[in-house]
Amino acid sequence: MYNYTEEQLEYMKKVEASRASRIEKLHERMTAEEKDAVLAEFHPDYITTAYEELKVGKNKGGKVLHELADLLQGHSRILNMDIDLNKIDYDVDVLVIGGGGAGSSAAIEAHERGANVMIATKLRLGDANTAMAEGGIQAADKPNDSPATHYLDALGGGHFKNKPELLYKLVNEAPEAILWLNNLGVMFDKEPDGTMVTTHGGGTSRKRMHACRDYSGSEIMRTLRDEVFNRGITVVDFTAAIELIKDTDGKIAGAVLMNMETKEILIARAKTVVIATGGAGRLHYQGFPTSNHYGATADGLVLAYRAGAKLLYPETLQYHPTGAAEPTQIYGALVTEKVRSLGAQLVNKDGEAFVYSLETRDVTASSIIRECRQRGNGIKTTDGEGVWLDTPLIDILNGEGTIEKRIPAMLRMFGKYGIDIRKEPILIYPTLHYQNGGIDIGANGMTCVENLYVAGEAVGGIHGTNRLMGNSLLDIIVFGRNAGQQAGEKYKSVELKELTLDHVKDFEKELAEAGISSETASPKLLPDYRRQAN
Ligand code: FUM
Repeated sequence: MYNYTEEQLEYMKKVEASRASRIEKLHERMTAEEKDAVLAEFHPDYITTAYEELKVGKNKGGKVLHELADLLQGHSRILNMDIDLNKIDYDVDVLVIGGGGAGSSAAIEAHERGANVMIATKLRLGDANTAMAEGGIQAADKPNDSPATHYLDALGGGHFKNKPELLYKLVNEAPEAILWLNNLGVMFDKEPDGTMVTTHGGGTSRKRMHACRDYSGSEIMRTLRDEVFNRGITVVDFTAAIELIKDTDGKIAGAVLMNMETKEILIARAKTVVIATGGAGRLHYQGFPTSNHYGATADGLVLAYRAGAKLLYPETLQYHPTGAAEPTQIYGALVTEKVRSLGAQLVNKDGEAFVYSLETRDVTASSIIRECRQRGNGIKTTDGEGVWLDTPLIDILNGEGTIEKRIPAMLRMFGKYGIDIRKEPILIYPTLHYQNGGIDIGANGMTCVENLYVAGEAVGGIHGTNRLMGNSLLDIIVFGRNAGQQAGEKYKSVELKELTLDHVKDFEKELAEAGISSETASPKLLPDYRRQAN
């Protein structure tokens, strides 16, 4: 048994006492006005003091969080280096920066088109948010569903800000993405007759979440990594991209790479580049803990921005409603939305369900923050406060053994600390999970910088200003494949001119003219958790 405080144990009894009555009646859905109100008052995206205006670059005048502004307006790591662009270490058709699901999908498709492809990744292939994804991947492939319905759900969830051509592509290519993964060997949850098991996520009007238990991302990444290796695609690991290279026509022409261990600088010349560097959770915006992988430091946004690309909705972040709030050892770790899909309710210290559990993520997270901060209905935890997620309901509603079968990773994660989620509720609080915005692309995956493509979480606009669960594993496949297909054709007509890093000098000049004196070197590459001297 976990060593809960006396107070926590007292409150836990109230969850147990109210369980039977809560089963009777699901919490009412919120009206549009109620949702807007809770978002405006409690969602972290609305805290204006957390933001500042960018003074340089394509988004000059736009607001981003201080932590991102610091990196976007930081100094290039190559500034004081003597870089010889004539000494080419790698010469390829398609350079993929990032070794997660989007990068791997892009590499596979470009390779399929005959390109000489290389993946450069600052950690190892598969060390990425993809492998951390739990709940599943959306696709409208059941008779009662359609891409049009999927489109409407995601559009509403995204506050009608989704870029239409990107969302159209996402939902229409979703069924094919599932088939592609299935054929590559992903072990999706299936009924005895072979049909895929699907569940609801927050904001979905149909059950379209396909999953591999509650380690969907890990299973998908395993399969993609095998495919990359089986194809013999070159993977240069522990090697970060620290700057993009252009040619004298202003088109993308490769990247300056840095070996993370030896700090050796390497030049990769490439006819096309795909940025697939993922998200930014490790920037711990506004002091939030994160569900993200160690390497999620917004590197791609910095590289692309300096090269002249535009960002779309970089100011909108996703705080997943249910990060672990106790025990402290897993503070901020993801408690998959699938737990709520299977029936677990969000309950306050008095044993009351205070929000319908499957509202869209931003609304659910804001409601939890309100319950704790305004209504004083949170439960004190080691690191702050939280509310209960009543997990024993899952087996009560779906039959004994459901937790063990459908969410074994959750059972194990909490079990390690003496918490049996089949018997007792768990404490949760929102955790920084996803960057809704990112680099602006067209439907062909390319930015406004010729031959620079982007895929995965580094893209902005697919999900508007709030993504629905399961649309991220989907977008890394749809837009990863798309970028690989496009770059894998485009390189055939590219004739590179002389390589140059003049855009970096130009950006430095812009910083000086804007009066920015920064001590930050960017991209960040890895978070710094060393203790700070007081
Ligand atoms: O809750 C989850 O399993 C997360 C899924 C997602 O972000 O898509």
